[in-house]
Amino acid sequence: MTHARRKELLVQVVRRFTTLAQRRRLRQSIVALRNATNPAQKLAYKWLLNHVNLRRNRRRSNRRLEIGPGHTSLVGFETANITVVGRLDYLVDAAKPLPFRDAEFDLIYASHILEHVPWYRTVDVLREWARVTRPGGRVEIWVPDGLKIAKAFVDAESGAANDFRLDGWYKFNPNHDPCVWANGRMFSYGDGAGTKGDPNWHLALFSLRHLSQCLREAGFGEIVELPRDAVRGDDHGWINLGVTGVRLEL
Ligand SMILES: C[S@@+](CC[C@H](N)C(=O)[O-])C[C@H]1O[C@@H](n2cnc3c(N)ncnc32)[C@H](O)[C@@H]1O
Repeated sequence: MTHARRKELLVQVVRRFTTLAQRRRLRQSIVALRNATNPAQKLAYKWLLNHVNLRRNRRRSNRRLEIGPGHTSLVGFETANITVVGRLDYLVDAAKPLPFRDAEFDLIYASHILEHVPWYRTVDVLREWARVTRPGGRVEIWVPDGLKIAKAFVDAESGAANDFRLDGWYKFNPNHDPCVWANGRMFSYGDGAGTKGDPNWHLALFSLRHLSQCLREAGFGEIVELPRDAVRGDDHGWINLGVTGVRLEL
């Protein structure tokens, strides 16, 4: 081996180790910043997390994205949430432009997150989700069934039926007041302390017809209601409404 070749190999090894060391330091910085409360550090965490995962995951194929996973995320899915929770790949507000390129994902799964976006922004948000889904790819959305909730509320108040007792959130309502139940289901409990702007308030109500129409306007076709056994993560029970659509060719 010539001197020049040995030198070249040494340079390559040093570069490789530098890169590995830098990567390790980067990963350590991200972990250290995860629970930061200082705004600048929070911003640094968001930037580092998104930057690293965007670069790393772009090399993958058959990509699936779970939006709003909460504390438990789906195996085999990249995850995007507005707050730092669970296993998180991207810290993003899914109601705003997403940091992904066009057609990056084969499947978007969003369970009980669309109702946290203001109702008059649903179509715009779905358009953005359509942009990052490849033509032929799919979206699966689960939301509280607003029509079922409204009907159960009216039925209970008028004495026609007490179907609201079929819902799991009935238990949060020891006096069995249907209006208390309907408030909880329509507006949610936010963070439980009444904090304005908390991302867990509900800001939209859906029926199967309306959600299907919003999906069509956003660029999805072949829209069908999902059966309850198609839930991939937490099943929200009696009020769960699921819809899937295929991203149409442009
Ligand atoms: C009710 S939880 C649903 C969790 C889980 N997907 C499920 O079905 O049980 C709503 C999740 O969406 C997140 N979220 C709310 N608004 C969001 C937004 N604009 N962008 C991204 N995530 C959001 C919340 O932080 C939370 O993790």
